[in-house]
Amino acid sequence: MALQNFEFCNPTRIVFGQETIKKLDDLIPATAKVLIIIGGGSVRKNRTLSEVEAALGNRQFAVFEGIEPNPTFETSMKAVEKIRQENFDFLLGVGGGSVMDATKFIAGAVHYKGDAWEIVTNGGSNITSVVPFGFVPTLPATGSEMNCGGVISRKSTNDKLPIHNDLLYPLFSILDPTKTYSLPKNQVANGVADAFVHIMEQYLTYPIHAAVPDRFAEGLLLTLIEEGPRTLNNPEDYEARANFIWAATMALNGLIGAGVPQDWATHMIGHELTILYGIDHGRTLSILLPSLMNEMRKDKHGKLVQYGRRVWGLQGNDEEKIIDEAIAKTRAFFESLGIQTYLKDYDVDSSAVNKVVEQLNRHQLTALGEKGNISPEVARRIVEASL
Ligand code: NZQ
Ligand code: ZN
Repeated sequence: MALQNFEFCNPTRIVFGQETIKKLDDLIPATAKVLIIIGGGSVRKNRTLSEVEAALGNRQFAVFEGIEPNPTFETSMKAVEKIRQENFDFLLGVGGGSVMDATKFIAGAVHYKGDAWEIVTNGGSNITSVVPFGFVPTLPATGSEMNCGGVISRKSTNDKLPIHNDLLYPLFSILDPTKTYSLPKNQVANGVADAFVHIMEQYLTYPIHAAVPDRFAEGLLLTLIEEGPRTLNNPEDYEARANFIWAATMALNGLIGAGVPQDWATHMIGHELTILYGIDHGRTLSILLPSLMNEMRKDKHGKLVQYGRRVWGLQGNDEEKIIDEAIAKTRAFFESLGIQTYLKDYDVDSSAVNKVVEQLNRHQLTALGEKGNISPEVARRIVEASL
């Protein structure tokens, strides 16, 4: 038992703190023609966009507006066309994970010869060059600001699929905590839950004596448990907000996953719930994770006990009891953020079970989890337990 062999390289420059958007001027070439990519307008309302535009100074730029939550291939391709026609040579995503993921896909699709949907069906592996891009993130959750992944949906075919490629690390991300003050409570809660589950996907597997990743992961979980509710209750508490944001970034920038087995089944099943029923990403995870922890309690026994003891301070020698309590604490934490954790709370009935299983089969997601033993039939039990 030991850390697995790994390589770790994260090339993204993080610029963190208040009043840092003006640094865009140093980070983007003076001659760049910039396409700013945004969502449905939140960054106009909270004035992040106007600060970004001011920071660009004399550079030529335009704004592409309308990336939707759970960004679609269809909308992203409109941006690709605009870039090809007007020769933008730098992309700046300003917004949440959806804007960042769409920007990554767009950056990789501009030079792609052939049907760009192939990028998604190939998991991003066939991207060979990108238009340079950076981010001004406004929603702590996904870690997209410092990783090389994204998730793209296609409505017409009911697909929501991940892409990964080393070329998809942003050049920089400017994290100004004050730009997240305008988030509604439900999005703050989604972000805390998403970051929490990112950590769990890389931590709650089986013990290999990976002391550094384990202690980092536990520290980040504790940080979210402490700073998440503080942020939710006091939106302009800078101290809490700054810690929450950095925890969310660290949760999925590759560091805590280096050298350890990883799960990701909660995410893959969750994506199917989002594309089928439109449930927010962070909520699908909060619904599924407690059921998955229980279903996989034998495989995950060692780490479940460690999690219960070290993160929730559970005591005693009855390990099954610790596991039950750890699962209950996890569900209660999500509920305390205002996230409902059963499908019935979202008006989804038992017909969802077959639909999710069909989608997993269609997407060839038939051997999920750190041991590849979450078959569609195991996933069926997880969804059934989440009704
Ligand atoms: O569209 P606008 O008007 O900007 O409003 C957004 C959107 O309605 C709003 N918002 C963002 N920043 C705001 C704000 N409202 C007020 N003030 C602000 N400062 O919040 C809403 C949700 O935004 P979205 O970007 O969709 O949320 P999130 O950041 O949670 O991203 C979710 C997407 O990321 C994917 C998910 O699957 C989902 O598609 N993920 C990406 C990952 C990655 N790249 O590594 C990993 C994750 O596991 C996740 O799968
Ligand atoms: Zn996630």
